[in-house]
Formats: sequence, C-alpha cells, structure tokens
Amino acid sequence: MNRRDFARLLAFSGAAPFVTPEITWARGAKLPPTPPSPDEKFWAAVRDQFVMPKELTMLNAANLCPSSAPVLETMYKMTRDMDQDPSADNRVKLGDGRENTRKLLAAFLRVTPEEIVITRNTSESNNLVSTGIDLKPGDEVLLTADNHPSNHVAWQEKAKRFGFKTIDVPVPNPHPGFDYYVDAFAKAITPRTKVIGITHLTSTVGDLFPAKEICRLARERGILSLVDGAQTFGLLDVDLSDIQPDFYSGSAHKWPCGPKENGVLYINKTAQPKIWASIFSAYPGRVGISRTFEGFGQRDEPAMIAFGEALKLQTDIGRAHIEKRSRELTSALIDGLKKIDGMKIWTSPEPSRRAAVLSFQPGSLDVRKLSAALYQKDRIGCATRGGQDRAGLRFSPHFYNTHADVEKTIAAMKKYVANGV
Ligand SMILES: Cc1ncc(COP(=O)(O)O)c(C=O)c1O
Repeated sequence: MNRRDFARLLAFSGAAPFVTPEITWARGAKLPPTPPSPDEKFWAAVRDQFVMPKELTMLNAANLCPSSAPVLETMYKMTRDMDQDPSADNRVKLGDGRENTRKLLAAFLRVTPEEIVITRNTSESNNLVSTGIDLKPGDEVLLTADNHPSNHVAWQEKAKRFGFKTIDVPVPNPHPGFDYYVDAFAKAITPRTKVIGITHLTSTVGDLFPAKEICRLARERGILSLVDGAQTFGLLDVDLSDIQPDFYSGSAHKWPCGPKENGVLYINKTAQPKIWASIFSAYPGRVGISRTFEGFGQRDEPAMIAFGEALKLQTDIGRAHIEKRSRELTSALIDGLKKIDGMKIWTSPEPSRRAAVLSFQPGSLDVRKLSAALYQKDRIGCATRGGQDRAGLRFSPHFYNTHADVEKTIAAMKKYVANGV
C-alpha cells in the first residue's frame, strides 16, 4: 500500500492505524454490536473490517472472499511469533489454537469437535471421502449432475480404479423444486446404492438442494451422504445437527472470509467407522476423528488459528443476519436485472430455491469483454461462465456488500446493454 492509499484509508471515519515496523494498514473502527435490525450504517461498519479499497465492489464470494482484518492480523501476529521463536516449546500454543479452531468450527456447524477434521479446502475434504469409503465393483454412487469436479470427476475417476459405478441425477433448469429432487433420488436408489453425493448450493446457477431431506432418505436406506458445502459454509446459517449428513465439506477462503488453504470436513460419529484415513503422518489433531484422520504432517497453524477468527467475526455479527443480508442483496440484484431488456436469469426466481449465487446471460453481450469492462472501468468483480451450458455472468454478493454496490452494478449493466461494451 502506498502512502497516499494509506492516508486515504486513515481518513475514513473512525479508522485507526494498525502499525508494525514492517507492515502498515488501516483498520476500520471496532465493529459495533449488531442491532436487532441491522441497517446500512451497520453493514458499512462490517465493510470497514475488510482492506479492499472502498471503490471496489466484489461480487465474487462464490469463488474467493477477502480475509477480514482480524484474520490478517492474527495470521501476521502468530506467524511472526512462531518465526521469532520456532522452538517446540513456543509452538505448543499453536497446537492449542488449532484445537480452539476445531471447537469454534463445531459450534459454528452445531456438531461436536470430535467430528471435525481441519483440511486444506473443500476439494481435499470431498476427495478424502471418495477415497476413504470402501467401494467395490457392483456398488453405485448417486450424484447430482451439477456437482463441482471435486465431487464429480473425483468419484468418476475412483470408479475407474475401484470398479464401482456413478449415476447422475439430472439437474433441470429452472430449479424444479425440492420435492422433485427428493422424488428423483428416491427413484434412482437401488439396492446397490452405497453413497449419495450432492452439492448444497451449486456454484453454476446457485440452485439450493434439499440437503436435509436427501440425507434423511439416504439414512433411511442405509446409504452414506456427502453434502458439498463449499457454497453454503459461511453463507447460510447451516445446522448440521438438523441436516444430519454423514459428511459435509467447506473452504475457509470462500464465504467464511478466512485464510486460504484451510477447510473443513465434518464426519458424523456414526459414519466414522465406515471411512479410512488417506494420509498418515505426524501431528494429528487431539480429539475424536482428528486423531486418526488429521495427521497431515506440518501445517500452517497460524492460518488455522486465523480461520477461528473468521468464524468468530461471523458469529459476532450473527449468522442469521449474514444469511438474510446476502439473500436480500441477491434479490435486489435480480429485481434490477429483470428490468433490463434481454437478461436471461438462470437462477431460480423462487427465493427458497436459491441463496446468494446468481447467474444470468446478459443478452448478446460478450461476457468476457463485459466482465473485463465491469472490473476495469466500474471496479466490479464477478465471475464468467463460458460454453453452451447456462453461460453468462455470476454475481455472488456477501455481507461486505451494500445496497450502493447493487445500485452501482445495475447502473453499469444498463449502460453496457444500452451502449455495448
Ligand atoms: C460446490 C463447490 N465445491 C467445491 C469447490 C472447490 O473449492 P476449493 O477450491 O476451495 O477446494 C468449489 C469451488 O468453487 C465449489 O463451488
């Protein structure tokens, strides 16, 4: 950060400098307690917890979120502490901090620390499941056709090696409703079905799946269930004690706004005897399944501790508030886009079938050029999807976005539709 940027950041109301001899950045004022009905002023204070320049509107949470200032500070302070004294004695507290993050994760997902494995990301979590379950020729794995490669290609590749079969349940567009999927899974199950692998909220068009109902169906038939939570962990107020999957996966660097290369794998107590660990090395976790499953060798413990800070920030704000806010911003974006000629919205018009991932085709505009213009000229960051299948732009707003971001984005879209890119 150059001196002018730094001075500008300090000029924000209430900003206080976070200064070390080597690194300086401005941090927003301490976050006030969440009011019963959070208003734009409160959400602006939330925005101040992030070091993104004010003029940048990031609508790409489904891909990668910025870490909040408490996360950055913790990573820096803990890394510095470790590197000042890398002795085993000094590092004991890092192991304690990692276990504290496990407790925070368990509370966040409403399960027990004994069921939590801290992984590198959702991809690793999903693959630990598809590699760790004993499957043999004749067995079947039911998948939703719109799963991420880490929960789709991964199963298909392992099917080639171990001889089991994968079957896709089609995913029509627009979202046909929760009952449709419960029925589709019930019909696709056979006596050979051993695992169901779904995505809680798809990254493609933001379809929300009836995870609780599908997990119940699986449980009743003695089938293991994997819910890929990359797009719901840190966005929805996920309660795994209610959903009751056998496995749930997530990444710290998406909606939780935590550090990169940290993730979670929840393994239900009842499923623990049915899965093998894939990696055996030193430094496992200290409780439950982590004692056998999390021996991944040396870890970045400062980042694991910072993961806990990300969860604390969301818990302090209130997870139900975060979910409501992200949904509300998404609905406002949809309402704005609907008023522009030529927009084909792939995401469900029905709020209960979506959350905060919104995909649409912006008429005949070239999406690559449009996305580049939005970023370079309007300072709006989003994702694109090429190809023939539901191509277009993807907006995924989060709790650091404001209604001003929505208005700015809709105004920019109107401009490009009227004048071209
Ligand atoms: C549904 C879903 N699953 C898994 C992943 C993989 O996440 P990661 O790259 O953090 O492992 C993604 C990434 O976008 C995703 O959207």
